[in-house]
Amino acid sequence: MYDVNGKTAVVTGAASGMGLAMAHSFADAGMALVMADIEATRLQSAVDAMTAAGHRAIAVPTDVSNEAQIKALAEAALDTYGAVHVVCNNAGIGIGGAVDEMSLDDWRWTIDVDLWSVVYGVRTFLPLLKAQGEGHITATSSMAGLVSGPVLGAYHVAKHGVVALMDTVRIELKMAKSAVKASVLCPGPIDTDITRSARNRPAELSEHETSPLEEKFWNNLSSELARGMDPAEVGELVLDAVRNERFWILTHPNEFIPLVERRLQSIKADHAHRMP
Ligand SMILES: NC(=O)c1ccc[n+]([C@@H]2O[C@H](COP(=O)([O-])OP(=O)(O)OC[C@H]3O[C@@H](n4cnc5c(N)ncnc54)[C@H](O)[C@@H]3O)[C@@H](O)[C@H]2O)c1
Repeated sequence: MYDVNGKTAVVTGAASGMGLAMAHSFADAGMALVMADIEATRLQSAVDAMTAAGHRAIAVPTDVSNEAQIKALAEAALDTYGAVHVVCNNAGIGIGGAVDEMSLDDWRWTIDVDLWSVVYGVRTFLPLLKAQGEGHITATSSMAGLVSGPVLGAYHVAKHGVVALMDTVRIELKMAKSAVKASVLCPGPIDTDITRSARNRPAELSEHETSPLEEKFWNNLSSELARGMDPAEVGELVLDAVRNERFWILTHPNEFIPLVERRLQSIKADHAHRMP
């Protein structure tokens, strides 16, 4: 059991959705917060609300796809609180299209924000946690990191990468007999602003062209997410996993584990002729 009371958490994507919910759960558990997001105004309002409620929190406007800004985030956290104990690499965006129709700008934006950010986060924060001999590092993947489907090809690639990265971190920490723990959050549908990701698309990128296939997909997904889980529940699941040192954090295990099993069955079926 990891005691988080009095410790410091860094959360990216903390201005909205699940990141904001994680920040609330951690604050209620007695943690100091370092909240990072690319939406500086919304982030500041979230931090103001947090401090008005008596919690310790600072806002660090950060573009997670920029390694120098992740390093500056770590420095801001250390300058303010002297140590970092829990790190949530959570910021992300989602954009769609058939794999051969999405522009390279769409591919690069997705992989920069959803995967490279986590590589930067792990490379920046893991050495700090290892050196202090305690802490927890997590990243937000998705059920799209464990199974694939149409339209979200670049997102699937990035989120599968996040699962692979965090699983490798887990294994390497275990091999080193480190007290530091890792986890990966794989949410199903959660009622957040993710379907409005285009709000954060960098101006220098070419305009995204929405295909009829993608439009239909987002319409369906938007209504599914509107009926989705309250992000506050996800914040509590993450806090619980940190405290109880659990690696896999699934929000909808009953609905999605059968889909993961179906993938395993299809691997087996394609090799049935070579297996006893
Ligand atoms: N909502 C879902 O159903 C769902 C399901 C699976 C996974 N996810 C993942 O959950 C994570 C959190 O998303 P959410 O659903 O809370 O959506 P959200 O849009 O409410 O929150 C995402 C936050 O990330 C921030 N962000 C975007 N680009 C950024 C950048 N370059 N640098 C820093 N911050 C940036 C946004 O400003 C926003 O505050 C994402 O990684 C997303 O892929 C969401």
